[in-house]
Amino acid sequence: MAVDLLLGLQWGDEGKGKIVDVLTSSYDIIARFQGGPNAGHTLEFEGNKHVLHTIPSGIFHPKAINLIGNGVVIDPIIFIKEIEGLKPYNIDFNEKLLISKKAHLILPTHRLLDAASEASKGKAKIGSTLKGIGPTYMDKTGRNGIRVGDILASNWEEKYKHLSIKHLNMLKSYNISIDYDLDDLESEFFSSIENLKKFKLVDSEQYLIDAQKEGSKILAEGAQGSLLDVDFGTYPFVTSSTTTAAGACTGLGVAPNKINEVFGIFKAYATRVGSGPFPTELSDSIGKTMAKVGNEFGSTTGRARRCGWIDLVALKYCININGVTQLMMMKSDVLSGFNKIKVCTAYQTEKGIIDYLPYGISNKEVAPIFEELPGWKEDLTDMTNLDEFPVNFNNYISYLEKALNTPIKIVSVGPDRKQTIFR
Ligand code: IMP
Repeated sequence: MAVDLLLGLQWGDEGKGKIVDVLTSSYDIIARFQGGPNAGHTLEFEGNKHVLHTIPSGIFHPKAINLIGNGVVIDPIIFIKEIEGLKPYNIDFNEKLLISKKAHLILPTHRLLDAASEASKGKAKIGSTLKGIGPTYMDKTGRNGIRVGDILASNWEEKYKHLSIKHLNMLKSYNISIDYDLDDLESEFFSSIENLKKFKLVDSEQYLIDAQKEGSKILAEGAQGSLLDVDFGTYPFVTSSTTTAAGACTGLGVAPNKINEVFGIFKAYATRVGSGPFPTELSDSIGKTMAKVGNEFGSTTGRARRCGWIDLVALKYCININGVTQLMMMKSDVLSGFNKIKVCTAYQTEKGIIDYLPYGISNKEVAPIFEELPGWKEDLTDMTNLDEFPVNFNNYISYLEKALNTPIKIVSVGPDRKQTIFR
């Protein structure tokens, strides 16, 4: 079987970009399967730091083909800016980047609708990145969307006009004042579309079918995290795509029986950006320390991330939904220095103690039950070998592996490629 899958098991920002970058040398194709520029995959190597939003995280490697799948939504303006940002790396995009003709386009008016929708919700807002993700996926499932392949047709501008007028009418119904200059937005959009046409636009599912027949090794790269999945996440505080393993099937055309390893990535603690329930959230000095040491600010929006202890109830749920075969623990270094490390093992509910994820996990519905483990003082960031790990850190890893019944194969001790230890 030729396809491995890599996805986040929490609320996103687990460090998927870094691990895809580390693993890319073992693959021929890196294929992103969902989400859009709401994602921010941060890669650090050789003193460079780079954030990718739409382009798969294998782009910095000399050989791998990077494919943007049909399940992704593309904002051509952000995409072209991303390409320009990569200029210093002299990447041959014609050789290395493929874009699915079936991927949907984010229009400027999708972004306006996102802003209006969020503003109309007041305190109940989702905390969207405001990149137009929700409205674009709504048009996709509502069968009104515009796909990348459409820009090659002669009637494309007519199609665009039809949809954008509809959006502008919808915008009026929100009765919310949003500042925008449509001429400016459209001029930037259309010039980016002209640029987009210069890239290799392909029937990506067929490309992947052929690649599998030829024995190519494919890594499917997810964005966001399982707890932001539109079905299984903390709805409605979720994104609008399938961030779980099934999303790789629909977002790339990979058959379920072709999936081999499912790599699940999680942080040694937990974070969330945007609104929504977070049972193990810490509003005390420990949470603040995690945020500071872990530099927990969104790579797309710069917003501060909320921090808390690891939640094994939620993690087990995500491992099961995704069929995770191997775990990768990220940002372990951030936990150095705490006297005690807490681990949420169950929830207290009105009906008693449960160890599974129920329908609602708001503070009113569940209270986390913690176990305490001894912490460690040593700085992990310069460690390059498993033998160097402090005993209490090794105990933490073993505890998690046992509780999650899944091996932890990679431990990350810092943002750089080099700070990655295989077990
Ligand atoms: P949207 O997908 O931009 O509409 O955002 C919906 C929710 O998902 C918000 O709470 C966002 O903060 C969150 N979200 C979207 N993309 C990411 C991501 O890449 N990392 C973390 N959270 C995200």
